[in-house]
Order: sequence, then C-alpha cells, then structure tokens
Amino acid sequence: MELSDRIANITPSLTLAIDSKAKALRAEGIDVCNFAGGEPDFDTPDHIKLAAIRAVENNFTRYTAVAGIPELREAIARKFVTENQLDYRPEEIIVSNGAKQSCFNAIMACVGPGDEVIIPAPYWISYPDMVRLAGAEPIIVPTTAANNWKMTAQDFENAMSPRTKMIVINSPGNPTGAVYTKEELRAIAEVAADEEIFILSDEIYESLIYDDLKHVSIASVTPEARDLTITVNGFSKSYAMTGWRLGYLGAPKKITQAIEALQSHSSSHACSIAQYGALAALEMSQQCVADMREEFNIRREYTFNRLTKMPQITTVKPSGAFYMLVDISKLGMSSMNFADRLLSKANVAVVPGIAFGNDKTIRLSYATGMDMIKEGLDRLENFCKTL
Ligand SMILES: Cc1ncc(COP(=O)(O)O)c(C=O)c1O
Repeated sequence: MELSDRIANITPSLTLAIDSKAKALRAEGIDVCNFAGGEPDFDTPDHIKLAAIRAVENNFTRYTAVAGIPELREAIARKFVTENQLDYRPEEIIVSNGAKQSCFNAIMACVGPGDEVIIPAPYWISYPDMVRLAGAEPIIVPTTAANNWKMTAQDFENAMSPRTKMIVINSPGNPTGAVYTKEELRAIAEVAADEEIFILSDEIYESLIYDDLKHVSIASVTPEARDLTITVNGFSKSYAMTGWRLGYLGAPKKITQAIEALQSHSSSHACSIAQYGALAALEMSQQCVADMREEFNIRREYTFNRLTKMPQITTVKPSGAFYMLVDISKLGMSSMNFADRLLSKANVAVVPGIAFGNDKTIRLSYATGMDMIKEGLDRLENFCKTL
C-alpha cells in the first residue's frame, strides 16, 4: 500500500540522525567527539526545574487552554515588550511544543499549494520540508561567506515571483551564526510590505549574540512589518530546555486565531508542567541566560581561533547561536564524504552542509564541553593534514 504523496517528498532530519548516531557510538564505548548536536550541554537551571516539580505537586497536570496558560501568555507578552519592542497582546501569542511546532504552525496557517516561500541558504534543516508539507514550494536563495551568510533585500527581490507568499528570516541563524542588523531587516521588511509577503522570523537564538551586537525583531522595524510577521521564539536554547518542548509565536490575531484552530486538532497544547517551568524561566532572574552566553562565547573564541589556524579550511566568525560553518571547498570533497570520513577515521561527528543547502561546508556545534572541543579540534586538525 502506498503512503501519501505528502510524505514521499520529505526526508528525516539529518542533524537529528547524525547526533543520534554519534550518541549511539558513544554508548557503545567508542570515544566520539560530537560536534553534531543542536542543544546546549548545560542542565536546565534549578529554579525552572523546581517550578515544574511544584506544578506536579499542585496537580497542574490536566489539559490547558490550546494557546497556553494565561499567565504564560501574559509573561511572554511582557517579554516581547521589554526585549523586542513588540506589543503583542496575550491573544496574539500561541504556546506550542517547541519553536519547531511554532514554525510548522505558522507555515501551515499561511501558505498552501501554488505558493512559494523564500528561504535563504544555508538554512535550518526543517524549513524546506515544512514548506513542502504545506503543499507549497521552497525557493532557496544562496548566500555567501563574503556577505557573512546574509541575504540582502536585493537578493530577496530577485527571488520573488507573483507566487511568493512568505520569506523566512532566522537571526541569529542556524547553521551560520549570522545576525542581521536593523538596517538590513528594515530593507527586507520594506520589500515584503510592498508585495504583502508574510515574514516568518525565527528568533530562537535571540539570547546568544556576541560582540555587543543587539538582536532586532523584524516585526519591530515598521508597523507594516508587524502586520506581516510571525515572530517565533522558545525556551530550548536560551534556558537549556530542549527536552521540555516549549516554544511560542506572536502574530496578528487573524494568524493566531487560525493557528489556535490548527493546533487544537493536532497537539492541543504544550505540556502543562513544562508551561509552569517556562513561566518561572521568564519571570525569575535572567542571570542563567547571561552565564550560558558567556560560556558559549569563550568556546566560540577558542573554536574560531583554532579553525583559523587550519590552512585547509576557512570560517567566517559567527556573531550568534552556537555553530561554526566551516568551508571545506579547498579539499574538493562533498560535505557528506568529508563528514563520513571524519567520523569513521577520526571519531568526530559534524553535520554535512548539504543538510543546510550548501555542499561546500560542514557545521560544528560548540555546545559541548571545552575538553571535548579541544580534543575534537585536535582530531579535526590531524585529519585535515592527511587529506
Ligand atoms: C533555527 C531553529 N529554529 C527552531 C529550532 C527548534 O527549536 P525547539 O527545540 O524549540 O523546537 C531549532 C532547533 O535546533 C533551530 O535551530
């Protein structure tokens, strides 16, 4: 019996597959240095864990409203005002099972068959398949290291067609670490506003920005941008809460109403216990976020300095997130071939850039302990010398 056409067009997430393979090898006792993961290696801060424990003790274990508990939506609305200069009302906020589901919901609600969605590459692995699942067509716009892996408003305009319905902006970006400035975002927002194109702004790495750069939400740059933007964020990366599965979006009510209906027929709502943990994450001290950023920054500096000393590869210094996108084109190998050989010969797991729409690169995540980073980079250096 045939499965649906919808499912025939998508592939499982390669990043999750490689990370699982590296974890399985370690479980077998093989000493793998895993640079493939996409999650902070820190534990969830204690005050967040305690809030969830208290939620269980207080029997907050039943169904909640589809869009999330009112206290959490109000706390998110306050966060949007203070940190993003965005005035979403609580009814313009939907809490979901991770930013991944928030992106999925936004795409499903806004695009369909016959529509095109512009995605700058290298991109987060799930966007194109989400667009395909919605029956629409991803239009991939390559970016270059020379422009710090950022799409310009002109690139956007050149890729547009009468069928363009949405553009995806991910700043700080995975896998590039690229951070868009306010001026760059304003120029993109103006093009989107001229043609009334939705903007999906995935801001999950918002808190991981370095070098005194400031995160800017594209929805805040003009009133027109706010009307067209779905702003996605979540708790996974900022608060080391990947397993809690908690994300959210802010958007005009017309969009959140549609998403609420959609989610009511799929997952209903995010886990009640996790929602109380998230409430504590937003309402209590943000020192844990600053501490994690500081530690990531130390690793970023170290990793970048080591990589720049390897003549076979080149790297743009990322301004955000916890990834390095490494250009391996001088070696004349496909990214898959490089990643396979690096894993089998040197026990180092990285993600081939083909997964992100760029076969000349590999992605290293420095969301892992310093000892592992040092050892892994020694191995990578020795491996490159053998090529
Ligand atoms: C760019 C980007 N968006 C969204 C997500 C999903 O985050 P969550 O764990 O909240 O679903 C990830 C996770 O790797 C990501 O890198």
